[in-house]
Amino acid sequence: MRPIPLFVTRPALEPLLPLVVERQRAVVESGRYILGPEVEAFESEFAGYVGARHCVGVANGTEALTIALRAFGCGPGDEVIVPGLSFFATAEAVVNAGARPVFADIDPATHCLTRETAEPALSERTRAILLVHLFGNPAPVAELRALATERGLHLLEDAAQAAGAELGGTKAGALGDAAGFSFYPGKNLGAFGDAGAITTDDPDVAAAARRLRDHGAARRWVHTETGYTSRLDAIQAAALRVLLPHLGDWTAARRRAARRYAESGLGELVILPVETPGASWAPHLFVCLTPRRDELIERLGAAGIEARAYYTTPLHRQPAFAARGAAPSLPHAERLAAEGVALPMGPALADEMIDAVVAATRRAFAG
Ligand SMILES: Cc1ncc(COP(=O)(O)O)c(C=O)c1O
Repeated sequence: MRPIPLFVTRPALEPLLPLVVERQRAVVESGRYILGPEVEAFESEFAGYVGARHCVGVANGTEALTIALRAFGCGPGDEVIVPGLSFFATAEAVVNAGARPVFADIDPATHCLTRETAEPALSERTRAILLVHLFGNPAPVAELRALATERGLHLLEDAAQAAGAELGGTKAGALGDAAGFSFYPGKNLGAFGDAGAITTDDPDVAAAARRLRDHGAARRWVHTETGYTSRLDAIQAAALRVLLPHLGDWTAARRRAARRYAESGLGELVILPVETPGASWAPHLFVCLTPRRDELIERLGAAGIEARAYYTTPLHRQPAFAARGAAPSLPHAERLAAEGVALPMGPALADEMIDAVVAATRRAFAG
């Protein structure tokens, strides 16, 4: 068996590369590199895909979240609820917006923020809830929406890992007041460099995001606030337009792979991730739990199978936040950090590969 990488994406991209290069070449020849028709076309196509009224293309997923928070009006003095386990950028985006991340625990089965875990973290200064559709599994937005409505809070989706996921028939990106996407290479919809987008139904949020991504310019030479140099590159938009029509098939393939992992008895060996009720997830990473995580990674590695721990330091224990004093105790976030292991996943993960991963996991635990 050939080595199995963690991200089994490349074979799905391969046949599309000539078209990507052709479209990118056309952008190079057009001379329109910053915003312009290619970016506008992608924004309109991605908004259509997600089912949101507006899409604003930005430079990366982190700035998508920062800009969306600022577009809500969040800033200094405000608190934003963030799950204790996510990629660092989720919390970083809050700090970069001038606000303070307040960490809440995650649900042990779905790995997402819930109403029950978010509620204890609320204070009078809370201005927004930044939920994360972690590993491509949608957070339970209806209950978080109810909480946000009761307390007058904005609801922002970190959909960086969840392009293609759905909850109750609505796509990630159209569930909150706004959403931030990352198109970092390897994401469910990955560009060929850094790229991101904000989606929203709110025309004021969209207009503010358009200003903020472009130095806070309301029109040429007139800056109503300070913003960012954070536009989606036309050359990335050209590539994303080629890939977007395939996202549905790739998501279905990821879902099939997750199902086969479960049906192959993997759940007898490790704790499997659980899809949020009412969701149709888009497994970006397939993260299981086992107290023998490090041993498993090593033994799979010896068998040519790449597995990786995600994320070994939870957000509330990151050195960057040490100056805030004692970190809260968030047992489920901490357990995922200690025991979570991502197994190979991707749109090109073949059944034989899944069977090989499960067999190697069985062997690893037999010894
Ligand atoms: C959950 C999550 N949020 C935010 C980001 C930030 O995206 P980017 O790397 O495009 O800035 C990422 C990915 O890197 C992510 O996985």
